[in-house]
Amino acid sequence: ALVMVLSMTACGGGRTEAPETKPADSNNEVANGGFEEGAVIGVSLPWLGTQNWKEAEEMFKTELEAAGFKPLIQAADNKVPQQQQQIESMIQNGAKVIVVGPIDGTQLGAVLEQAKAEGIYVIGYDRLLENTTGVDGVVQFGSVKTGELQAQALLDGLKEMKGEGPWNIELFGGGPADPNAPNFFKGAMSVLQPLIDDGTLTVVSGQMDFTQCATMDWDNSKAQARMDSLLSGFYADKEIHGVLSPNDGIARAIITSCEQAGQEIPAISGLDAENETIEWIWAGRQYSTVAKPTDALVAQTIEIIKSLQAGNGMPATDVIVNNGKIDVAVYELPPVVVTKDNAKEVFANDPGRMALLAD
Ligand code: BGC
Repeated sequence: ALVMVLSMTACGGGRTEAPETKPADSNNEVANGGFEEGAVIGVSLPWLGTQNWKEAEEMFKTELEAAGFKPLIQAADNKVPQQQQQIESMIQNGAKVIVVGPIDGTQLGAVLEQAKAEGIYVIGYDRLLENTTGVDGVVQFGSVKTGELQAQALLDGLKEMKGEGPWNIELFGGGPADPNAPNFFKGAMSVLQPLIDDGTLTVVSGQMDFTQCATMDWDNSKAQARMDSLLSGFYADKEIHGVLSPNDGIARAIITSCEQAGQEIPAISGLDAENETIEWIWAGRQYSTVAKPTDALVAQTIEIIKSLQAGNGMPATDVIVNNGKIDVAVYELPPVVVTKDNAKEVFANDPGRMALLAD
C-alpha cells in the first residue's frame, strides 16, 4: 500500500525524492526520518506546585539547550483548557517533539492526535497519556511499584516507631485526574489490604476506597482539612499510628494536622524527596519518602528525543501499557525509599540534598 501511495504521489505531483523511512516501532506517520538538530522541543507541564515539576522545568531548559535544541516550556496551573492551548501553541510553533506531563490523563486526546497528524512525536512525562492514539511513549517511574514502596515504608515505620500492633492508620490518595494517583493507591493497597483483613491494621474511619481518600488537585490544604476532620471525628480518644500519604506536600500537611491536634507524629510515607521533607526526615519529623530523581527522568526523555532527531525512532523497551486505546511503550525507572537511615547513601550524588543532611 505504501508503494502504491508513493508512486501515485510521484505521478500526480511529479515528485522524485526518495521516501523517508519509517521506524518499525513508531506510532508516528509523518516525522519518521529524524529532524533538524536545532529543532523546537515543546515541554508541557501540569503545574509547578511540587518540587519535581519545578526541577523538570529548569532541567529541561538547561539540558535541551545543552543538546542544541530550542526548548519551549510551559506549565498549566492545573487547568486543562490552559494545557490544551499551550500544546496547540507548541504545534503552531513548529515543535518536532512535545513532552507532556498531563493534568488529566484523559483530557488531551484531541490535541495530541492533532499533534500526531502534524508529524510531531508525543512523549508522556512522569504520567501516562490515556485514551488517545496521540502518544509514542511514556517516561516514568513505576507507579504501582511506587505505591508498594510507600506502603512497605509505612509498615517499617510503624514497627520502628509505634511498638507492637495492631495499629490505627488512615489512607490518603493523590489527585484523581492524575493517572499516577490510582496506581500509587492500588500498589499500596496490595500491601496493606491483607494486614487490614487480618486485623494488624485498622482504618478507624473506614474510608478505604480511592475516591474517599483522594486529594483533589493534589492540594495540600485539602488533605490537611480532611486530616483535621478525621482526627476530630474518629480520634478524640484514640492514637493515630500511621498514615499512607501519596507525596511529600500532603505528608507535611498531615503531620502538621496531627501536631495541631496534640497527636504524636505518625509513621508516614511520602514521595518526591522534596527539600523540606529531607529536612523533616533528618530531624525525625517525617518517617519516609520515595525518591524519583527528576534528573534521571529528564535525561531519559532527552535520550529518546536525540534518538528521534537522528531518525532512529523510539528506543526499544520491555514495558508496554495499554492506555485505553493503544499499547504504549513505557520507559520505566525504579523509585527508591528514603528514610533517615539511608538518606546519605541515596543522595550521595545529589549535592543539593546532601547539604540538607548536615550533622
Ligand atoms: C508525580 C509526583 C507529584 C504529584 C503532584 C505526580 O504525578 O509523580 O511526583 O508529587 O504528581 O504534583
